[in-house]
Amino acid sequence: MILKGKVAIVTGGTTGLGAVVARTLADAGATVVSAARGASDTGDRFPVDVTDRDSVDALVSTVHERHGGLDVLVANAGINHPGPLVTLPPEQWNDVLATNLTGVLNCVRAAAPLLRAAGEGRIVTMSSLLGRRPIAGAGAYSVSKAALETLTRVLAAELAGDGVTVNAVAPGVIDEGMGRDILASDRLWNRLRGSLAAGRSGTGADVARAVLFLAAPESSYINGHVLNVDGGLNF
Ligand SMILES: NC(=O)c1ccc[n+]([C@@H]2O[C@H](COP(=O)([O-])OP(=O)(O)OC[C@H]3O[C@@H](n4cnc5c(N)ncnc54)[C@H](OP(=O)(O)O)[C@@H]3O)[C@@H](O)[C@H]2O)c1
Repeated sequence: MILKGKVAIVTGGTTGLGAVVARTLADAGATVVSAARGASDTGDRFPVDVTDRDSVDALVSTVHERHGGLDVLVANAGINHPGPLVTLPPEQWNDVLATNLTGVLNCVRAAAPLLRAAGEGRIVTMSSLLGRRPIAGAGAYSVSKAALETLTRVLAAELAGDGVTVNAVAPGVIDEGMGRDILASDRLWNRLRGSLAAGRSGTGADVARAVLFLAAPESSYINGHVLNVDGGLNF
């Protein structure tokens, strides 16, 4: 129970990878609040739109009131609007950046005072292999994740003095959440499978175990790191 007594927020924790992460942190002893736009306030779930700072502030202050503090923020909520950059509707570009990049900063800004007070606060952001290996047709998403990795490193440097670490996990092809679309496409999967050293797609548990490690007190000397969880993908 390496997270016994800890309080965690997982944005986008109601579905896909975030839901597996939330279960994994709870199994490790944490009190977990999963937050997403479609969530109802049920105690272990709370509604939030990460693009809206007031909504994020309400999430963090509610967790503070109910649980007395916050130790772990998993900034996992993310979206993809596929399409070539030159024809992608501007509102879709803005939506991806507002959610995947500014949305993470909104959450960190709101949570930072509580994470600093926690003494060994942990932030884990959710990048993607496309952050460093961008592909045509997923431009807004790739750019957002590349910027997210830089955001993660800057925040790591800025919060380190208060014992808060900020690291990213960068999943590859995962049989959970939006990764299922890739696996459902014979064209994409056949292109990728030969590049997977592991010989298989990843699972939500593969990703969640990496998040758990970075969320735990034991990872205190790892900061500003991007941890690939991609089965040795090499393309
Ligand atoms: N699955 C993969 O293979 C894979 C690979 C690499 C990276 N990732 C990353 O992993 C993260 C989770 O993705 P997933 O695959 O689990 O996708 P998913 O199943 O589509 O889940 C996305 C989650 O984010 C929430 N969300 C979206 N916009 C939000 C907003 N504005 N405010 C609050 N919550 C919001 C969604 O809930 P609501 O719609 O209710 O808000 C949902 O819970 C993303 O950051 C994604 O980029 C996934």
